[in-house]
Amino acid sequence: MFERPRGTRDFNPSQAASHRFVERAFRRTAEAFGCREVLTPTFENVELFKAKSGPGILEEMFTFKDKGGRDLALRPEFTASIIRFYNSELRSEPKPLKVFTLGNCFRYEEPQMGRYREFWQWNCEIIGAPSLESDSDVIALADAGLKQVGLKKTELRIGHIGMLRKFLAFPPHDQATVLHLLDKKRFADLKTALARLGAEQLFDIVSSVAQLKGGPEVLDKAQSLLGQAAKESVEYLRMLGGQLALYGIKDFVYDLGVVRGLDYYTGMVFEIDSPNLGAEKQVGGGGAYTLTNVLGGEATSSTGFAIGIDRVVLSAGQEGVRMAPRPLDAYVIPIGQPMRARAFEIVMHLRMAGLCADVDLMGRGPSKNLDYANSVKARTSVLIGEKEAAKGVVALRDMESGKQTEVSVQDLVAALKGGGEPKAHKTGKKPTRRATKP
Ligand code: HAM
Repeated sequence: MFERPRGTRDFNPSQAASHRFVERAFRRTAEAFGCREVLTPTFENVELFKAKSGPGILEEMFTFKDKGGRDLALRPEFTASIIRFYNSELRSEPKPLKVFTLGNCFRYEEPQMGRYREFWQWNCEIIGAPSLESDSDVIALADAGLKQVGLKKTELRIGHIGMLRKFLAFPPHDQATVLHLLDKKRFADLKTALARLGAEQLFDIVSSVAQLKGGPEVLDKAQSLLGQAAKESVEYLRMLGGQLALYGIKDFVYDLGVVRGLDYYTGMVFEIDSPNLGAEKQVGGGGAYTLTNVLGGEATSSTGFAIGIDRVVLSAGQEGVRMAPRPLDAYVIPIGQPMRARAFEIVMHLRMAGLCADVDLMGRGPSKNLDYANSVKARTSVLIGEKEAAKGVVALRDMESGKQTEVSVQDLVAALKGGGEPKAHKTGKKPTRRATKP
């Protein structure tokens, strides 16, 4: 027996169905917001992520050398790849460029419930739009995606990294270290790091700001603690609150401790938690950033987020959201060997009409086949006997009520698509023998 690598998972049909249900909800929402899908490679040159991901991500990367000696990394996130793609090929697209992607990412973290080494993200970016309105569009998109899945209990926390960046005006590497410790809420290490930078006196202020969470009053507190460094960010967050109200988003808190684990954010930052989940309750996060210039292009303001699909599936499961796969509309049962060919023609006709349909492949008798139809939760069974075939009809059995009706082959698709009571057979027309049009 072989074991899976640590931190990876297999998905059985029902788990895969839940995963795809959430992905579908996210894809539909992104499209509803005018975003277009892009796809980027699963692995990249390691340098791409070294440029600006920050110490947190760098420690967690899966890196390897290919046979040509190149240093590569499995993607820990999508933003750097999308901005690389933008710089090289998408720059001349009309602005704003609104794109999304869905796929797996890899981080070498200590696995636990909700934290894996291979996990999936829904990632969206708006590139090249003025910030206030695109920031609110991005937050509304994340919020709408979770609502589309059916999640009810989420907490949206919005902050602004700009005020801390201004206040902690250290060289970039030192600032990244300090912000990383703040993000992880490692206050003892933060104190040591500030002392090393000769700025121990900033510790009380910074740690107080990082704990400010609540209504607009926390913005006043941040202003009084950080002074001039917070002025622009505080004004911006007030305006953002007004803009979000236009989307009907009023239920959020300002959280000035949102620092984010990645190093590229420059402005508004936000996170969304699902309180149902234990330690790993953050289902998504993002914010405003400028990465195009760091990766060799022209500075272009961008804003985006990623939501962790695995955590959303866990949370939706706890809230009782039904994430069932598309049900089998019909299970076709030939009665007796001579009817098998007819059964295959009919099942193909249903499949080509867009229905989910399956057929007996085991040569079972009708009663075993009905048991099977029940066990795979088919909505209906279509029984094909010689007598019915001669009349151009089938017996359509509703698997829930057990009610059985004769339906003409011509009316079968409509009866199954209608979902209601199948129309009783009236004609006695003989069916033709074409695969997609019996
Ligand atoms: P992030 O906060 O690092 O942001 O990841 C986004 C989400 O991915 C997290 O909130 C979490 O739900 C999920 N996630 C992260 N690590 C794991 C893990 N090990 N196991 C399961 N789920 C995980 C980013 O990745 C940014 N690129 C978001 C962004 C896009 N910012 C601007 N544009």
